[in-house]
Amino acid sequence: MMNETGSPKWYDPILKKVINEVKITLEKDSTGHDYWHCMRVARLARQIALEEGANSFTCELAAWTHDAFRPLEKETGKPHSGKDALVIIRNMLERSGVKGSSIQPILRCVAEHENYSFLGDSPSMDLESRVLQDADRIDALGAIGIARAFMFAGAHGQPMGGPVRKSSGWSPGNYSNTAIGHFHDKLLRLAGEMHTATGKVLAQERKRVVEEFVDQFIQEWEGGTY
Ligand code: ADP
Ligand code: NI
Repeated sequence: MMNETGSPKWYDPILKKVINEVKITLEKDSTGHDYWHCMRVARLARQIALEEGANSFTCELAAWTHDAFRPLEKETGKPHSGKDALVIIRNMLERSGVKGSSIQPILRCVAEHENYSFLGDSPSMDLESRVLQDADRIDALGAIGIARAFMFAGAHGQPMGGPVRKSSGWSPGNYSNTAIGHFHDKLLRLAGEMHTATGKVLAQERKRVVEEFVDQFIQEWEGGTY
């Protein structure tokens, strides 16, 4: 029997428990890796998984838990992409009733989507890991991606932009360590790094939103001579 989203019914109570764990864990984050980021990534991961024929249970639970270590990263300085993160996630999944044989693929998906350093380069990422990486990156694009970049910059004391240097032509690339500079350094490149066909389409749509925003931002930032 399926629920309205096409997922098997047995899955719902476990999912609810995992969501509750994530809610408690990420309650205080306001830098972009919050509960709502996980919800959006889980929604995207489900959509992409269903279209790409990936295991949507693995993708969705990995999406919900992928940033669970972020608060501890802040507190302890240990990297969110380390073995400690996987222990935390394993515990959350176990407490929520995910059965043992399903936990390993979820942890692998989380680990691979970040290219965790201890795994070395993973040239042959599982389909589920590619789905999660696409979903996570899509949430860094579009209107939400713009908002997250400015939240991040604000939380880390970075300015929005920098002094206009018209001689070299205005480009966000002129502004390293600023919010608008991040669009050049990372965000506008993400759409070219999608793995799945579904991810590519979604990322292109959101990239257009970002490009329009950056053009308008540049016009307003320059604002003529003064
Ligand atoms: P992920 O969640 O995919 O691991 P990051 O931790 O790199 O990504 O970034 C989380 C969010 O913060 C993203 O939306 C990203 O654009 C934003 N961000 C990361 N670094 C910067 C930066 N230097 N300036 C502005 N925004 C940033
Ligand atoms: Ni994330």
